[in-house]
Amino acid sequence: MSNSSEAELLHTFKGIPFTTRSSPELLKSLDTFKAREDDVLLVSYPKSGTHWLAGVITKLYMTQVTVTSPIEFGDISRLEELNKLSSKRIIPTHLDYNMLPQNFKNKKCKMIYISRNPKDTAVSMFHYYRDNPNLPTIDTWTAFFDLFLKGNVVCGSWFDHFLSWAEHEDEKNILFLFYEDMKKDLPKVVKEIALFLGLNVSDNDIQDICKKSSFSEMKNDTEKENSDPNHTVCALTSNKKLIFRKGAVGDWKNYFTPKQNIRFQEIFNEKMKFSKM
Ligand code: A3P
Repeated sequence: MSNSSEAELLHTFKGIPFTTRSSPELLKSLDTFKAREDDVLLVSYPKSGTHWLAGVITKLYMTQVTVTSPIEFGDISRLEELNKLSSKRIIPTHLDYNMLPQNFKNKKCKMIYISRNPKDTAVSMFHYYRDNPNLPTIDTWTAFFDLFLKGNVVCGSWFDHFLSWAEHEDEKNILFLFYEDMKKDLPKVVKEIALFLGLNVSDNDIQDICKKSSFSEMKNDTEKENSDPNHTVCALTSNKKLIFRKGAVGDWKNYFTPKQNIRFQEIFNEKMKFSKM
């Protein structure tokens, strides 16, 4: 648990809470970022399966690719650092669509948005907050539940994030994926990703990638790694136990009270009423 005050750990930019690891100067300068046509963006609200997707994508490429830490993480020198990378860049981000550097949109870079049942996302994020000294202290699930519904957590409201991207669901350069579909039929989703990225991958390779991308394999793999948070998908911790926690669908049922479930559902129905997804 953290003893640092919330003000030391979070700041707000354009109405969205960011950790102080994302400097205001960097956030202000994001629009100057020079995107490359072959950049692939890996977009998510936190705790939606970003690491899982990153693991699959790096295995799909036979050539050298670099998965960077999220574009919004660091100080202003970050942009230059990314600029210097010579290999193909897979760039994760938790930015909502409106804050995404314009250049990625102009160049029609490929973007993959992964989403997850927000109830499971909330529970996953609760654990992430609770055990992460880089985030404000959270005492109880009840307290976190309220913060999550108000969008008073890093990256803001799940609903606003999802809706900002879902508005672009018809754009050919954006692929929408669901964590639950990956759990249900990973080979099918991996094939879909390969097709979207224009990669020719055999059925045998797909099977192999899926085997190596199981929760237990990925957890074991990363436990062996000595990772530097500046170069990982999750920029806020090098503690892999926080990232590979349970990997299950429906864990929310172990946390939500019936009353919380009704409240969540009402807000969900209201916020999502115009969304086709
Ligand atoms: P839980 O906390 O519910 O276990 P992100 O990568 O966006 O931070 O998301 C982390 C969540 O994805 C965690 O959820 C983590 O366990 C889950 N996850 C990571 N790798 C996974 C895998 N290979 N299979 C299933 N879930 C995985």
